[in-house]
Amino acid sequence: MLKKELRIGLIGCGFMGRTHSNGYARVPNFFPDLEYKPILKAVCSRSEDKVKAFAEQWGYESYETDWRKLIQRDDIDAIDICTPNNMHFEIAIAAAKAGKMILCEKPLSRTLEEGMQMVLAVEENKVRNTVWYNYRRLPAVTLAKQIVDSGKLGKIFHYRTNFLQDWTINENLPQGGRAFWRMDAEAAGSGVTGDLLAHCIDLAMWLNGGIKDVSAMTEIFVKQRMHEETGQLEDVKIDDACLFHCHFDNGSLGLFESTRYARGHKALFTFEINGEHGSLRWDLHDLNRLEFFDNADDSIVKGWRSIHVTDGDQPYMNKWWVPGLSVGYEHSFIHQVADFLVSLEKNQPCHPTFRDALETQKVCDAVISSAKNRRWEETDVEWIDK
Ligand SMILES: NC(=O)c1ccc[n+]([C@@H]2O[C@H](COP(=O)([O-])OP(=O)(O)OC[C@H]3O[C@@H](n4cnc5c(N)ncnc54)[C@H](O)[C@@H]3O)[C@@H](O)[C@H]2O)c1
Repeated sequence: MLKKELRIGLIGCGFMGRTHSNGYARVPNFFPDLEYKPILKAVCSRSEDKVKAFAEQWGYESYETDWRKLIQRDDIDAIDICTPNNMHFEIAIAAAKAGKMILCEKPLSRTLEEGMQMVLAVEENKVRNTVWYNYRRLPAVTLAKQIVDSGKLGKIFHYRTNFLQDWTINENLPQGGRAFWRMDAEAAGSGVTGDLLAHCIDLAMWLNGGIKDVSAMTEIFVKQRMHEETGQLEDVKIDDACLFHCHFDNGSLGLFESTRYARGHKALFTFEINGEHGSLRWDLHDLNRLEFFDNADDSIVKGWRSIHVTDGDQPYMNKWWVPGLSVGYEHSFIHQVADFLVSLEKNQPCHPTFRDALETQKVCDAVISSAKNRRWEETDVEWIDK
């Protein structure tokens, strides 16, 4: 079949630049029936040596060192934003004005205000858009969504989730610069709230509906760090840890925790949902498994079952190996590329869109403000089942 081309211009060749490039490269082999095929047209980063080497390594046809030039190119259909958070706004607005499709890394923006303008820009310019909340596309997580939507759990009472890391405990770690932009409020917007809890919030609302209000606390454990750019000891302004609880629109209670100070945990992302008839739990460290408790089981065999989500009947798995063989973290990105291409074929939005991601941004904003003001905050989330 002669394929239609989706010519990609990717900006930023760090961690996410690699996961996305791998996604574009692998989709044609594993999703051969799609009408569209991604073409690695150009990659952009500031350092010529680095971007040239990246282009060669990943098979991009060309490279740029100025993202504005990339956006103006006629041979690019879609801009993929894999830069630190402070660049998302400017690049997305320019790309939308140039009529390019946009695939933007999460969080959508540093602030709600920036996010609102980004949503307006893609909607006014009618450009296709999606945000890489990739965990939705791990087969076990997608299966959790199917089970919740089937009504098997009944009325939901509790949603519990955390995302724990330990990489910033060392007080000599600097903030800012190319390697530590996540520690710098100017570049990142917030700390664990926008970086890690944003994933938890996106999944929580996708699985369990809108979050109505929040009560949060944040902490900065190391108050000052050397700034890479100024060489000065400066106040740390990002949240090192954040805990919040909330009400969902469906009446259930939510409990969220994220920190970069949980010694021993590198990326412990988990969620658990407790309903009237059953419960589900999932853990990123064992990402192909979904645990399910079904109260309808016969009493003599009743207990948590551990579903190894690798069967062809289960989400995405008919595209991979044979039943029993696992997939990994990188497959969430491959699946998101495939779903984006399907959305082009079907002329439908690819969720989460910028507008969906803005709802997550509203919760992040309310969380930061609740912690600062030490009071409950309404989120104003308008969640439609997506
Ligand atoms: N979906 C996920 O699970 C996930 C995981 C990690 C990061 N992220 C998000 O992805 C984005 C990038 O994070 P990362 O971990 O890949 O960061 P990174 O530091 O590894 O890479 C950032 C890249 O952007 C480039 N860059 C910075 N400013 C630029 C500019 N002006 N022009 C061109 N290139 C520029 C850097 O040179 C670098 O190559 C962030 O928004 C982050 O929140 C998402």
